[in-house]
Amino acid sequence: MGHYIPQDKFFKQAKNEGFRARSVFKLESIQERFHILEPGDKVLDLGAYPGSFLQYIAKVIGEKGIVIGIDLRKIEPLGRKNVKTYEGDINNPDLIKKIAAENDIIRFDVVTSDLAPATSGIKDLDAGRSFLLNEQALAIALRHLKPGGHFVFKAFPGIEHQKLLHTAKNHFKVIKAIKPPAVRKTSREQYVICLKKL
Ligand SMILES: C[S@@+](CC[C@H](N)C(=O)[O-])C[C@H]1O[C@@H](n2cnc3c(N)ncnc32)[C@H](O)[C@@H]1O
Repeated sequence: MGHYIPQDKFFKQAKNEGFRARSVFKLESIQERFHILEPGDKVLDLGAYPGSFLQYIAKVIGEKGIVIGIDLRKIEPLGRKNVKTYEGDINNPDLIKKIAAENDIIRFDVVTSDLAPATSGIKDLDAGRSFLLNEQALAIALRHLKPGGHFVFKAFPGIEHQKLLHTAKNHFKVIKAIKPPAVRKTSREQYVICLKKL
């Protein structure tokens, strides 16, 4: 999460609406365009701290749904019954299996990933780290999504990123890369929307 960023209109809007981060508006615009989330859905959110995606997802899925957030950092409780949070590393192979079992979940309807590595400022190094996280996130989505489920992840374009898109194309019916309006003009960040797991 950038600490030295100017407080732009999305920052202010997030604050006014009680969201923990401005990232929420990226997910909101994805939802408005692709309708990935539905009431009652079981959702896994990777890299969930501080929790603005979780706040938004919880609202859309309602009381009958459940969203599980995982992050290396501890997420302050959201005070909602349909949200559960775990502190952990998504690279730990048993973590998601354990969490799913603990919550009686066989397959998720949607996996969202806003995972971002600690950045070094060195473009290629950061893109490389982001790729490794996304490779892992994609593996999790393929293992834990139901057929017909959706996966959304944040990415930075690069050679390795193309490899990831290629893999995703083999496993989802539709793949779209977009830059939501809440992504800063100066950022290369994109979100890849993978619809309908095969
Ligand atoms: C941009 S922030 C997420 C913001 C969040 N979507 C929100 O709306 O509040 C990215 C997060 O990814 C987490 N992260 C990075 N590597 C991780 C890993 N290996 N396992 C779990 N979380 C990780 C970071 O700790 C960071 O909190």
